[in-house]
Amino acid sequence: MHGEYFPYRASIETFSRLLNPEEMHPSYNEVPQHRRTAERLLGHLIDNFYNVEVRETIYKMLRYLKNKYHINEVEFDPSKYQSTMFRFMDVKRLAGVIPIVPDESFIRELYGVHGHGLSMYWPSLAPDIVYDPNKLAKSLSLFESALNYYDEVKAAFRMLSRKGRIRVRNLTSPYASISGVKGTHAARFEWAMHYFGLNSLYQGKSVKFLDIGSHPGAVARSMLKFIKAFITCITKIPDHDINNPMPYVLLQDRLKVIFGDIDDQDLGDQHFDLIHDDLDLVDKKLRPSGTNIAQSKSCLDRFIKFCGNTDRALMTVHDLDVDTIEKMYECYSAYGSIDIHRSRFSNPWRPEYMVLFTKTKNSRMKKKKFLHSMYHYFNAQTSFLIQWNQVLHKNVMNAFHEGVVERNPLQSDDAYKAESVKWVL
Ligand SMILES: C[S@@+](CC[C@H](N)C(=O)[O-])C[C@H]1O[C@@H](n2cnc3c(N)ncnc32)[C@H](O)[C@@H]1O
Repeated sequence: MHGEYFPYRASIETFSRLLNPEEMHPSYNEVPQHRRTAERLLGHLIDNFYNVEVRETIYKMLRYLKNKYHINEVEFDPSKYQSTMFRFMDVKRLAGVIPIVPDESFIRELYGVHGHGLSMYWPSLAPDIVYDPNKLAKSLSLFESALNYYDEVKAAFRMLSRKGRIRVRNLTSPYASISGVKGTHAARFEWAMHYFGLNSLYQGKSVKFLDIGSHPGAVARSMLKFIKAFITCITKIPDHDINNPMPYVLLQDRLKVIFGDIDDQDLGDQHFDLIHDDLDLVDKKLRPSGTNIAQSKSCLDRFIKFCGNTDRALMTVHDLDVDTIEKMYECYSAYGSIDIHRSRFSNPWRPEYMVLFTKTKNSRMKKKKFLHSMYHYFNAQTSFLIQWNQVLHKNVMNAFHEGVVERNPLQSDDAYKAESVKWVL
């Protein structure tokens, strides 16, 4: 929810403190070990409650202690609290006897955060944040906290089997299926053509599109919906499709496919109205960390290289860091205009944005202003990204511990589905 603050620290902090507790009170040793453990666990549960992994793990251990050792409650004495712990709440409200497995609403109440469904809170979809070059922030640090959390959730995701990962992703996603397109790459492309006003610019006109990294052809198929467009695809083909290289599209006069590596191609003086680049550096679902960032940077390099061959260039940024934004500045300087928006049909826990560069003769923004405007744009997405990662994290932990995964209610929301269809051609 916009403007709400969730105290959050990385799981490793809580778990390392649980493994190596600091004993401030020598007399504490007289308390039986299982009771000390319960008190400590409860303290850490309250301290880092908004970290889903910590919350789920500690609840599980507390339930175990309750059932096995019959500890039903713990007595809290505020004079024994460490000063750094519980710094976000009025500790006096915690004094007294509380149940060993407290209700989640009790802890949320202590933080003063209300109004959510407590088992699973499904955030709304992306706020319509529009890039404004005059809104500035000095650093990206706010958004970086969301990116760090995203990395942590990705690591938790890897605990699941391949089947488990697909199940969690499919059930948590708001997009059950998208009719009229071949998958999310094409849906995003069609959304972007609407959003950036390119449908009205190109439909019915004799235009030339270049699609880089086109296999298996979903975006090329969407490009053919522009009835007078001529499309050139340049793509490598993975071995498994060597006998049917572009399965999603019918080869025809308006479509030329060059099979090969884009780095070996010379576009010469060919001119395109639009270049779209979807090239993927690895063909795997589990991607080494840094792949998405390397992919964005290599795409930006190609856009700079082919700047003389096109009027516009469209890409998806799948992850980012300060260096990627600097590279975006180089590309912006070459073209003269940039627009960016969170992509529809992208799972909302991903930092995925569609970026359009347009050639203009306008004067360019200074680098510092460009970077600060991008920092502001991304910082404004922080709360949204964290909330969706919390939902994904919770479903990952549920799948891991209990085998249960909640389905995103938007998947059966007819009004939402009808609204989504508007965005495809
Ligand atoms: C994510 S897929 C593209 C999906 C495609 N846009 C669609 O809509 O069906 C990325 C593709 O990039 C291709 N690719 C990877 N490296 C390439 C390179 N150096 N040159 C050309 N194509 C490449 C891969 O073969 C892969 O099929």
